[in-house]
Amino acid sequence: MSKEDKPTVLIVGAGLGGLMLGALLEKSGVPYTIFERTTVVKPLGSAMVVGPTLLPIFQQLGIYDEFLAIGKYLPQTLTYKESLQPMPPLDLRPVEEFTGYGNYTVARPTLYDLILKQVPPHKIHFGHRVLNITEEDDKAVIHLSNNATFTGDIIVGADGAYSAVRQRMYEQLKANGELPKADQEDLPFSCTCLVGQTGVLDPEKFPIVTLPHCLFNSIHGQDKPFSWHTFNTAEGKICWMVLHHLSKKSSKAATEQRFRNTNNAEWGAHPAQAMCDETRDFPLPLEGGKTGTLGDLYDATPQEYISKVMLEEKVFKTWYHRRYVLMGDGAVTAMHDAIALANLIYAMPNKTSEDINKVFEEYHKERYPAVMESYNNSKQLAKIFDTGIVGTIVNYVTTHMPTWLWRLALAKTIRFRPQVGYIKPVELKGTVAPAISPSEQKARAVFENRQVGAVVHL
Ligand SMILES: Cc1cc2nc3c(=O)[nH]c(=O)nc-3n(C[C@H](O)[C@H](O)[C@H](O)COP(=O)(O)OP(=O)(O)OC[C@H]3O[C@@H](n4cnc5c(N)ncnc54)[C@H](O)[C@@H]3O)c2cc1C
Ligand SMILES: *[C@@H]1O[C@H](CO)[C@@H](O)[C@H](O)[C@H]1NC(C)=O
Ligand SMILES: *[C@@H]1O[C@H](CO)[C@@H](O)[C@H](O)[C@H]1NC(C)=O
Ligand SMILES: *[C@@H]1O[C@H](CO)[C@@H](O)[C@H](O)[C@H]1NC(C)=O
Ligand SMILES: *[C@@H]1O[C@H](CO)[C@@H](O)[C@H](O)[C@H]1NC(C)=O
Ligand SMILES: *[C@@H]1O[C@H](CO)[C@@H](O)[C@H](O)[C@H]1NC(C)=O
Repeated sequence: MSKEDKPTVLIVGAGLGGLMLGALLEKSGVPYTIFERTTVVKPLGSAMVVGPTLLPIFQQLGIYDEFLAIGKYLPQTLTYKESLQPMPPLDLRPVEEFTGYGNYTVARPTLYDLILKQVPPHKIHFGHRVLNITEEDDKAVIHLSNNATFTGDIIVGADGAYSAVRQRMYEQLKANGELPKADQEDLPFSCTCLVGQTGVLDPEKFPIVTLPHCLFNSIHGQDKPFSWHTFNTAEGKICWMVLHHLSKKSSKAATEQRFRNTNNAEWGAHPAQAMCDETRDFPLPLEGGKTGTLGDLYDATPQEYISKVMLEEKVFKTWYHRRYVLMGDGAVTAMHDAIALANLIYAMPNKTSEDINKVFEEYHKERYPAVMESYNNSKQLAKIFDTGIVGTIVNYVTTHMPTWLWRLALAKTIRFRPQVGYIKPVELKGTVAPAISPSEQKARAVFENRQVGAVVHL
C-alpha cells in the first residue's frame, strides 16, 4: 500500500476509546485526526480496574512500566453489609496464573492522561464539536459547530453514549427504512452513579491509604437501593463510586430529569450535590479499626471533580453505514474496539467504498459477540449489586462458590487479550490461551508480508 492508498481516519471524541485508536494508528502510519467538543477534558471519574485484557496492548505501546507506576495491585475484592460486617473476599489472584498479568486499579483521570500522552497534540482538535456527518464524492465529511468541515475516508464515532455520529447515522438509516426497530429505542439506564477522587489523604484519619495493595471495598445498602465502592490508589487518594440502582419507576423519573438538564452522560453540579446530600451518612470501613462515612470522602474531594453520571445498558445492533463506524461505550469495550479497528484499517488494501464496507463488516463480526458476552457478564455482575432477593441469592452463591467454579467464572473474563498485528507481538503467558482475534491475524499477515516486500526492494 503506498501512502496515497492509506485511508484518512476522522475520529470523533477524545475519550479513552478515541484516544486509544489515535495512539494505535499513530504507530501504524495511517493518517488520522481527533475532534473533541470540550476545550479541556476535566479529570472526572473514579477508578477503573485494568488487567490482563488491556496490559498486552500497553506493552506493545511501550507504556506498561508507566502504567504499573500509576496502578495499584488488586488481589481481591471485599464486600460488606451496611453494618460493615464483611463477606468472604473474592480472590482475583488466579488471573495471574491464567494470563501472567495481575489486576490493578487506576484513577480514571490518571489513566486518561497516560493515553492522551501517546497522541501528538497537533493531531487532536479540542473545542471542535461535530454536528453532522455526510458522504460526498466518495469522501466522508464532518460538519462542525463553527461551520468548518473536514474531509477524510472514514469517520469513527468514539463520542460516548449519546454519540452524535450514531444519531446522525441512525437518522440517515431510518429515513431509508434501514434501521432495526431495537435501535430506534432510547438508551435505557438502570443506575445513576456518583463518582470522584479525593485529594491526598491523611493516613492517620484514613489508614486504608497506607496499604501496600488496593482494597476494592463494596458496601451494600440495607433496605435502600444503593451500593458504594472505594479504591485506595497509588497516589494515597481514595477513588469512590456510589450507585443508585433504579427501579422501573425511578428509572423513568430519572430519564425525564436528565433530559431536562443536559444532553450528555454527565448531569451537572446540582443533581450531583443532591445525591451527595442524600448519601453522606453512609458508613465506610477505613482499616486500622477505623470507620467513616461517604461524607468524609466528599469533604476531601474538590467539588468540581464530583460528577453524577449514568450507566447505560444497551448494545446497539447497527455499528456502521457508508463510511461511518461506531466504537462501543464502556472503557475496556471501547479500547478493544479500537484495537480491532486499528488492525483492520492497517490491513486495508485500498480505500474504495467496497473495501471500507468489507472492513466494517469484519469489525462487527469480530466485536459484536465479544461485546455481547461482556454485556452478559456485567449484567450477571450487576445482579451481585442488586439489593432485592435476586441480589441476595446471587451474592450468597458468589461468595460461597466452590473455588473451582469461581476460577471458571474468572477465566471467562480474561478470554479477550487482543494485540495489534503491526507491532512486534508480546509473548503469551499463563495457562489460559486468549481468544483468537481474526483482525489481529489479518494485520500480522499483512505486516509480515510488507516486511518481506521491504527486504526484496532493498
Ligand atoms: C464523567 C464520566 C465519569 C466516568 N467515570 C468512570 C469511572 O470512574 N469508572 C469507570 O469504570 N467508568 C467511568 N465512566 C464510564 C467509562 O469511563 C466510559 O464508559 C468510557 O470512558 C467510555 O469511553 P468512550 O471513549 O467510549 O466515551 P467517553 O469517555 O464518553 O468519551 C466521549 C468523548 O467524546 C466527546 N464528544 C461527545 N460528543 C461529541 C461531539 N459531537 N463532537 C466532538 N466530541 C464529542 C466527549 O466530550 C468525550 O470526551 C465515566 C464516564 C464519564 C462520562
Ligand atoms: C480483572 O481483570 C480482568 C481482565 O482485565 C477483568 O476482566 C476482570 O473484570 C477484573 N476483575 C475485576 C474484579 O475487576
Ligand atoms: C445532516 O445532513 C443531512 C444530509 O445533508 C441532512 O439531511 C440532515 O438534516 C442534517 N442533520 C442535521 C441535524 O443537521
Ligand atoms: C454558521 O452558519 C450559519 C448559517 O449559514 C450562521 O447563521 C451561523 O452564524 C454560522 N456560525 C458560525 C459560528 O460562524
Ligand atoms: C481494492 O481491493 C480489492 C481487494 O480487496 C480489489 O478487488 C479492488 O480491485 C481494489 N480496487 C482498487 C481500485 O484498487
Ligand atoms: C447473551 O445473553 C443473551 C440473552 O440472555 C443470549 O441470547 C446470548 O446468546 C448471550 N450471548 C453471549 C455471547 O453470551
